[in-house]
Order: sequence, then C-alpha cells, then structure tokens
Amino acid sequence: MIISSPSDYREAARRKLPPFLFHYIDGGAYAEHTLRRNVEDWSDVALRQRVLQDMSSLSLETQLFDETLRLPIVLAPVGLTGMYARRGEVQAARAAASRGVPFTLSTVSVCPIEEVAPAIDRPMWFQLYVLRDRGFMKNALERAKAVGVKTLVFTVDMPTPGARYRDAHSGMSGPNAEMRRMIQAMTHPAWAWDVGVRGRPHDLGNVSRYLGKATGLADYIGWLGANFDPSISWKDLQWIRDAWDGPMIIKGVLDPQDARDAVAFGADGIVVSNHGGRQLDGVLSSARALPAIADAVQGDLKILVDSGIRNGLDVVRALALGADAVMLGRAFIYALAARGQAGVGDLLDLFEKEMRVAMTLTGAKSVSALDRTLIVE
Ligand code: FNR
Repeated sequence: MIISSPSDYREAARRKLPPFLFHYIDGGAYAEHTLRRNVEDWSDVALRQRVLQDMSSLSLETQLFDETLRLPIVLAPVGLTGMYARRGEVQAARAAASRGVPFTLSTVSVCPIEEVAPAIDRPMWFQLYVLRDRGFMKNALERAKAVGVKTLVFTVDMPTPGARYRDAHSGMSGPNAEMRRMIQAMTHPAWAWDVGVRGRPHDLGNVSRYLGKATGLADYIGWLGANFDPSISWKDLQWIRDAWDGPMIIKGVLDPQDARDAVAFGADGIVVSNHGGRQLDGVLSSARALPAIADAVQGDLKILVDSGIRNGLDVVRALALGADAVMLGRAFIYALAARGQAGVGDLLDLFEKEMRVAMTLTGAKSVSALDRTLIVE
C-alpha cells in the first residue's frame, strides 16, 4: 500500500498484524471515549497563520535534560514492542537514534535492556512501573545504570490496569485465547515467520533475567499483575529519587495539583498523559489537560505530553500549548509493525516535514518560539 502520511501506517499495521496484537495496540479502556478525544482534541487546536515572516532559517532542535534532540520528540515506552516487529525494541531504538531522538524502553519490553542499549549510539531512556517487588526495582536500577541509562521515566498511572474490553474480543485474553491467537498467526504468515518464529525468545526480557527462569509470556504477565501496587504514593518513590543521580520523569500526570506535587517531590519532568486512553476512560484528553498544568508548573520542570499525537502538526500544537517535547506511542508502533526500523525512521521524517510546514506558516522559527501566542482561542 502507498504510505504518504503518518496516518497511513495504522492501516498498514492492521494488515500486517494478527488481530489480537493490532487491537491490543489500537484499543483503549472501557468505551474508548478518552481514546477518541485524545486524537480529536489535538485537531481542534487552531493555530494562527502568519505570513511574510522571512522563514528562511528554521530550527527544530531542542535541549532536554542536557541532551540535544534533533526534533522535540521522544519515543514512548510501549510494552511488548518485540511482538509487533522482530526484536522490535532494537529496531525502534535504532530508528530513533538515527533521527537524533531518544527511545524509551518499557519495563515490560521483549528485548532486555542489555540487548537494546548497546545497539544504539545515544543513551536510552528507561521506564519503570513502581512495583511491589523492591528486589526487582533495585535490580532494574542497577542494570539501567550499568548500560548507561541516565533518564528514568516512572509511570504512575497504572496502580491497577484499566479494563480493555477489546482484548477479550480479539483473542488477546478471554475464552480459548491461545487457540485463537494460533489461528490468527497462521493466517498472517508474514508476521508469523518474521516475528513469531525469527523474533524469539518472546518473554519479558527485563523480568526474565531477574526471575531467572524461562517461562511463557503468560507467567510474566501474571507476575506483573500481582505486582501492580495500588498503595503507592510519592514516598514510595523517594528512595529512588535519593539513589538516582540522573533526570527522573513522572509519567501519567493529568491534574495541575499532581504536577505541583511532582515539583515538590523534585522531579525533573512530567509526562502529561492518560496512557493513550488505556486507563481511566472519561478523563480529560491531554490536549485539554495540558494548558492548566503548564500554568501550574510555571517552568519549574520540563513538560512532555503524549496521548493522541498522530502527526507533526499535533507536535506543533502541543508545544504551543506549553509542552517542551512530546512522546509518541501508537504513531511509532504502527510504523514499526508495518515496516520495522525503516518505517519508524520514515515516520519521524514525515513528522519533521509536517513540523517544518506548520512552523513556516505560523512564523515560529524555533522550538522555543512555539507558545500560546500562536493559538487562536
Ligand atoms: C503503552 N503505554 C505504556 N506506557 C508505559 O509507561 N509503559 C508501558 O509498558 C506501556 N505500554 C503500552 C503498550 C501499548 C500497546 C500502548 C499503545 C501504550 C503508554 C504509552 O507510553 C503512551 O503513554 C501512549 O501510547 C500515548 O498515547 P498514544 O500516542 O498511543 O495515543
């Protein structure tokens, strides 16, 4: 199929993947209202068009936590990425590095941190859930340090997993799930050969090295389920703040008060996020939550934002509303599933082109010039 825009990759991924994986990526929580609004609300943000502003020089570069980013974009942590493309975390990390942007490895990646970090020539970011098993947390921090990770992302909007009803229908979970997945794999032979056969082992690389036994994916998911901890609070993060020298980012903030608490805690950054509409349906979209959070924080920490960002124009809108950078979730996963590393590289190029057009037509010559004066209320 012809791919000319970032949104084409969703359909390309749908064709390539067994349905249980496509819907696992594509779906959200409950009736998926927030999932839809995440996308719609970015497109409702109206930009001011400016003309004759001499836009002959334009820079998309930005500084974030002592790193230079060629674009104000970071690839978000996405679990099980190695199931969507062969050793998918390595492919996505290489694509990100080749375009000068950070890749964030999920706690629940297929490829372990020791496989991904040496594959790229820039420091990788690492995401952690705050889990009950302190031994795992300590082990993960040590391993992250050992492979040169500096920036940690703590995802705090999953003290308990949201209800994702699509998964039971698609065969990701529910009755006869294993058999249904097998049949779907057989009817998607390109995926079955490339990822199902050649992409092994299919475990949670970071967890299996800690647990020290090679069991199936279902066992790891069981371990994870038992380790989500509804009792977590800011004080549970304090020992990590004290032990970690590098930047610490809190992901999953949607409320101005939580953003202020993150400042008080000593976070270096937050990610304004509703987990891509996968947790509490009915909460505000990120586009609507962001301005009040930017006002509450007043530059005391860096603001990243994700959920619903699908193209370069959305990135410009997010920065104009107060973010310092964005994270991409599904946008890059669709591209990875469709065309691997080349797909993610191409997607980032498409984002860059769209950002250049949008900035040229709004008269913003640099990332720091993207602010609320560009928004039409
Ligand atoms: C996620 N997300 C996520 N976040 C995280 O901190 N750790 C994780 O392991 C995962 N896993 C995960 C799997 C899948 C399939 C998706 C789609 C998302 C959330 C992710 O980091 C990000 O917040 C959202 O994807 C952003 O929304 P969009 O861009 O996908 O709409």
